[in-house]
Amino acid sequence: MDFPTFSVSIQMFGFVFFVLMAHIANGDVSYSFPEEMKRGSVIGNIAKDLGLDVSRLSSRKARIDTEGNRKQYCDINPNTGELTVAEKIDREALCGKKSACVIKQELVLENPLELHRFIINIQDINDNSPQFTEYVIEIEIQESADKGSRYLLDEAHDADIGVNSVQSYTLQNNEHFLLNVLTRDNERKYGELVLNKELDREQQKEVNLILTAVDGGTPPRSGTVAIHVTVLDANDNAPVFSQAVYKVSLPENSAVDTLVVTVTATDADEGQNGEVTYAFSHLSEKNRQLFFLDVRSGEIKLAGLLDYEEESSIELAIQAKDVPGLASYSTVLIDVVDVNDNAPIIIIKSLNSPVPENASPGTEVGIINVQDRDSENNGQVRCSIQQNVPFKLVPSIKNYYSLVTTGELDRELVSDYNITITATDEGTPPLSSTKNIHFTVADVNDNPPVFKEQNYRAHLQENNKPGSSICSVSATDPDWRQNGTVVYSLLPSDVNGAPVSSFLSINGDTGVIHAVRSFDYEQMESFKVLVSARDNGSPPLSSNVTVTVLIMDENDNTPQILYPSPDGNSFMTEMVPKAAQAGSLVSKVIAVDADSGQNAWLSYHIIKASDPGLFTIGVHSGEIRTQRDLSESDSMKQNLIVSVRDNGQPSLSATCALYLLISDNLAEVPELKDVSHDESSSKLTFYLIIALVSVSTFFLTFIIIILAVRFCRRRKPRLLFDGAVAIPSAFLPPNYAEVEGAGTLRSAYNYDTYLTTGSRTSDFKFVRSYNEGTLTADVTLKKTPSAVDDLEGLDADMSDSFQVILMVSLFCHISS
Ligand SMILES: *[C@@H]1O[C@H](CO)[C@@H](O)[C@H](O)[C@H]1NC(C)=O
Ligand SMILES: *[C@@H]1O[C@H](CO)[C@@H](O)[C@H](O)[C@H]1NC(C)=O
Ligand SMILES: *[C@@H]1O[C@H](CO)[C@@H](O)[C@H](O)[C@H]1NC(C)=O
Repeated sequence: MDFPTFSVSIQMFGFVFFVLMAHIANGDVSYSFPEEMKRGSVIGNIAKDLGLDVSRLSSRKARIDTEGNRKQYCDINPNTGELTVAEKIDREALCGKKSACVIKQELVLENPLELHRFIINIQDINDNSPQFTEYVIEIEIQESADKGSRYLLDEAHDADIGVNSVQSYTLQNNEHFLLNVLTRDNERKYGELVLNKELDREQQKEVNLILTAVDGGTPPRSGTVAIHVTVLDANDNAPVFSQAVYKVSLPENSAVDTLVVTVTATDADEGQNGEVTYAFSHLSEKNRQLFFLDVRSGEIKLAGLLDYEEESSIELAIQAKDVPGLASYSTVLIDVVDVNDNAPIIIIKSLNSPVPENASPGTEVGIINVQDRDSENNGQVRCSIQQNVPFKLVPSIKNYYSLVTTGELDRELVSDYNITITATDEGTPPLSSTKNIHFTVADVNDNPPVFKEQNYRAHLQENNKPGSSICSVSATDPDWRQNGTVVYSLLPSDVNGAPVSSFLSINGDTGVIHAVRSFDYEQMESFKVLVSARDNGSPPLSSNVTVTVLIMDENDNTPQILYPSPDGNSFMTEMVPKAAQAGSLVSKVIAVDADSGQNAWLSYHIIKASDPGLFTIGVHSGEIRTQRDLSESDSMKQNLIVSVRDNGQPSLSATCALYLLISDNLAEVPELKDVSHDESSSKLTFYLIIALVSVSTFFLTFIIIILAVRFCRRRKPRLLFDGAVAIPSAFLPPNYAEVEGAGTLRSAYNYDTYLTTGSRTSDFKFVRSYNEGTLTADVTLKKTPSAVDDLEGLDADMSDSFQVILMVSLFCHISS
């Protein structure tokens, strides 16, 4: 507010001063007035100032003249003598930058001619604004410019002079620059920009400012110009990765050339300062072969195959760099994803082979470990073994399995096992592997030797050579080695009161049984021994078998003729009635054979007769019959030599002589004495007969009582025989019994067995089933079927191996 007031007062003072000046400057009158006054404006009264008569002015033709062709700036009013502005005056056009604008004018009067000089002084007013020569001031500033840097600005020009020229500058408020206004020697002012805050091209590429120049007029005028600051780039930015860490998942075994990731880094700078290239920093030799990085595009590709099992995560340090060399770093984290590319591995940690066969179910025989290098499900392994083996896998602590038995083992059935263990992981698709375990089962002595047969029968010919083998036994034992090695032995026992070892011996290894001595069938027909087979286990196992030794008969006994006395010395002479008809039974030769079977099967033959053709003899019965009717012509005394032969091979035989007397009366026999023999011998025989008859009678009585009891029970007793033979009753059955031995022997020999219960000196003949054909005559003993039936029934009722059948026995004297 002070400023305009001040300038107004100065103008008024100037006007007063000019008026004073015009009065003081006598002779050389001057007038000061501001430029740009309107035409006709009164500058002063020159007539007064020059002391001229105003009334005469018109007549004297007062006028303003200029020297030369100069322009006329003033006019004179001839009536009043006042000087007026002839034309609007622009001081700047007239005087430019001159500090005083003075123009000389002349007043010309005629009649008389007078010339008066005067001066007009044109004063400046503030009619021009400051002006910049350009519309825009262009400035380029490096963004790296320091604070305090100065940049000269063009100055503004103002056509006015003095205070009306440029007095100050102002700069638009901004954050980067300040304005510093300076004054030159010629008092002109100019400005410069001072960097107050560093520039950043990346934030602001350019700054636009308005600079204002203000003059000192009243009122002041101003002019503006735009300042355009261009911020120039400096490499002040490093490349920046789009991520601090690039996380990637990649399946292992991905194909070569697979794109892993594309890294990008941007550089805010321009041009080369912003041109980014990529590289790995710090890369292990292995990873260098696995990865390839494109320098320009930042693509990381696989150059090899990843293996999860070797490295499950990989860290790659990467670097981005601009051309001048500013760099930054980032990391690529590759998470390698497992692929089921490893089959499980089966490791047998321990194996207890062989396994004893008596191992109880549940015995641990092995420990198995399975491993899979894959992870998660790909590394989850299931183990199994094949069916139908008595083993199973029991999962134990992590990845360990026990192989245990599930049942009884039997080496004799299965001596070894091939167990296949299969391990399968749970990957998709699953992988599996197998392993074979070979188990052997160790033997335990759990099987006794077993004889091939339940009992053995040995047939031994009597009169054998001592030491000859009679049979062999054999037993098997499926156990292993000594547990299955069989040793044979005879179990001690007594046979007929003598130790068995005196009869037989056995080869412990082969089981061959030898006779220790010679056997006599007539003494012992069979006996039993126990043979033991024992293995060599510890403890040993054994089993027993019975060996029945059957002694077979040999034809070693000649037939013994009981009647008549074989030496032909018999005093007994058969009486043959003269009236005997053909076929009458005359006598009977009785013989026995200590052997049995064929060897005791006797046949009778007449080998010599005084009248051949008169008598015949039953081949098997020994009965002598007349062949034809006797006649008077026949000799009274008839002699027969009879041979008794057994059926053995070779056969043995005995002969006897028979004396027949054809007579009805004993007295008629004159030569009886001839045929009688030694008295003493007859006496002895007679006593023997008495003794034997009484024993026989006693025995017979006993038997009859037994039979009576039996028959009474059956309510229908029967007579044993209804026939009679002309045989002295004294020869009735002795104490002979049939002992049935082995049934098989009976069938083997196909005829009845003749056995004795007594010593070989016992004379007997025991007949059971002669052929009916051999006993055709009425008078011969005859069995009725019912009697036989009864006897059979009796057989059955009596002891198993002991049958008694009484037969008619004949007894005759045995001569020594
Ligand atoms: C077990 O395998 C072996 C050879 O692979 C073979 O010789 C043997 O006979 C097999 N045993 C069984 C019980 O399968
Ligand atoms: C025989 O069996 C016993 C157990 O009874 C056993 O200890 C031994 O090893 C077996 N011998 C052989 C050769 O297998
Ligand atoms: C075999 O016989 C003997 C004697 O009689 C006996 O001690 C043993 O126990 C028997 N052995 C067997 C396995 O029967």
